[in-house]
Amino acid sequence: MIIDLIDKLYKTNYLEHDELVYLIYNMDEYGKEYLFEKANKIRMKTYGSKVYMRGLIEFTNYCKKGCKYCGINVANKNIERYRLNIEEILQCCEIGYDLGYRTFVLQGGEDDYYTDEMMIEIIKTIKDKYLDVAITLSIGEKSYESYEKYFKAGADRYLLRHETADVKLFKKIHTNSYYKNRMKCLWNLKKIGYQVGAGFMVGIPSQTKEDLAKDILFLKELEPEMVGIGPFIPHKDTIYKDEQAGTLEDTITMIALTRLFLPYSLLPATTALGTIDPLGREKGLKAGANVVMPNLSPTSVREKYSLYDGKICTGDEAAECRNCIEKRIVSAGFSVDMSRGDHINWRKRY
Ligand code: 5AD
Repeated sequence: MIIDLIDKLYKTNYLEHDELVYLIYNMDEYGKEYLFEKANKIRMKTYGSKVYMRGLIEFTNYCKKGCKYCGINVANKNIERYRLNIEEILQCCEIGYDLGYRTFVLQGGEDDYYTDEMMIEIIKTIKDKYLDVAITLSIGEKSYESYEKYFKAGADRYLLRHETADVKLFKKIHTNSYYKNRMKCLWNLKKIGYQVGAGFMVGIPSQTKEDLAKDILFLKELEPEMVGIGPFIPHKDTIYKDEQAGTLEDTITMIALTRLFLPYSLLPATTALGTIDPLGREKGLKAGANVVMPNLSPTSVREKYSLYDGKICTGDEAAECRNCIEKRIVSAGFSVDMSRGDHINWRKRY
């Protein structure tokens, strides 16, 4: 019975592989409702009704990687590439800080134009200027030494989705990115002391339910502080352009399961979720998510950071995004929290 399995998961925060696969295969409407309710209940116990806000700065869409699903992959000659310089990045931070953000997420393609020295300068400048902010990096696979340098410069968190925990599927959807190295990077980030974010896409072409079970069990093993889960959405300039997007239901089911496996994790209701359904993020929050990442990038570059088609909010100024998301959070029955929003078990390193 799936209700018994959900109860067991709720009580123990764990299911064996076969149980989890059974649960995913047999999930019906009633089961989902029950699951979302339990996930929401756990989130209420851990973080309450607070939704943490992160200001996202997409500072470069140059990328040397050839991830087959991603619109900014190196092979795409159809997009206009851009880079923000340090002044432009600082300007985003200034606007964000004034709007109340205390976490800045610096995200970009894997772009060697930004040397370690430049990244260190960017991190240090932000941290010197704003003493009460957290910096999250999301710039892909780097060496242990580079990760360590950024951490020492003041970076607090690092987002690197594992994308899929199945080796074969990982190989199928990437060209010059390797499963082993992705895993190594994640463990290195943990070892260095970052609050780490892993995560995966739901509905990647040929992905099976067993693959999704693997994703969740991998997360349980890694125990990241943050987990980004979003639907795969096709991009017109990729080989997957005619494929189906992942569904809202499947994605929020995975968010809810992750909340039950990792009760204290910080789980974003992603932009991709808001892209496949106008109320996707609200539904994500109700299924256990507790983070949103509104955009602080200049509107002039927003559309160029196109990982998938149809991305929402590309025309809105930072202040509009801030207000729009606040309204949505409140109307869904939650409250906005503008603090740094560290993981509950996080101890300050200073
Ligand atoms: N659909 C959904 N998510 C995507 N990402 C990249 N391309 C797509 C796509 N087509 C996600 C990846 C990456 C994150 C930054 O965006 O999971 O880690």
